[in-house]
Amino acid sequence: MRSVDTLPALRRALHPWRMRGQTVALVPTMGNLHRGHLKLVEEARRRADRTVVSIFVNPTQFGPGEDFASYPRTPEQDAEQLRAAGVDLLYQPAVRDMYPADPATMTFVEVPGLSEDLCGRFRPGHFRGVATVVLKLFHQVQPDLALFGEKDYQQLLVIRRLVADLDLPIAIHGVPTVREPDGLALSSRNAYLNPDERRRAARLYACLEAAAAALGAGRRDFAQIEGECAEALAAEGLKPDYVAIRRQSDLAPPGADDRRLIVLAAVRLGRARLIDNRPVEL
Ligand code: PAF
Repeated sequence: MRSVDTLPALRRALHPWRMRGQTVALVPTMGNLHRGHLKLVEEARRRADRTVVSIFVNPTQFGPGEDFASYPRTPEQDAEQLRAAGVDLLYQPAVRDMYPADPATMTFVEVPGLSEDLCGRFRPGHFRGVATVVLKLFHQVQPDLALFGEKDYQQLLVIRRLVADLDLPIAIHGVPTVREPDGLALSSRNAYLNPDERRRAARLYACLEAAAAALGAGRRDFAQIEGECAEALAAEGLKPDYVAIRRQSDLAPPGADDRRLIVLAAVRLGRARLIDNRPVEL
């Protein structure tokens, strides 16, 4: 595995692959890699000739008072895991190279509507930071395809919309969430949980499953189901930012005839903010 940390070095590494007509997959990450990321890599290797992984803890997607400074950074372990997983190229740009000017005066890209709902309501500017850094990575790497975890479902839709609206020739693949045996979705932020919080965190997916079961049983009182789920979470000390039943296609509130739904939730538990979702096909 080659490792580069500047844009000229990235371009030099990609050039021979392009000359040979090889396809390139990009897996954008913020590092502190776990089995969920490795699943993205596995899928990337299956679909493309070459796999590039970027590691960049992107300051513009963190709000004031959020965990940018304390976000877990584990570069040696990450590189080791990526080497073992058969990645061709690791790209780790520095913040000063990605954002040479004050981010407040830089060009940014925004996906309106979708970005303002759900997590966007609680993390203003978050999806603008995600969309901007992902667009920069797409321009830098120019991949044929890119892979993102379905755990961050709203992020996945924001990126799909970005790619469609700006006519980017990049196929976006969502990869199913990888879970612990008790259902907790893998996330770098799970490391913030103490043992008691970690045990209670499994309630998040259990509540999503209960909501999915209610929908499967024919209930259409969406607000009532959301309320029951939020109450069950609060009873375990998980503080919901939101619990929402939405359409899978665009995250709009569903009508009684919609068949492809998704239950999404974000909760605060100790130092962690956890998000998860459960698609429902009726
Ligand atoms: O999902 C993430 O890890 C980040 O939001 C991403 C897509 C790498 C952009 O910084």
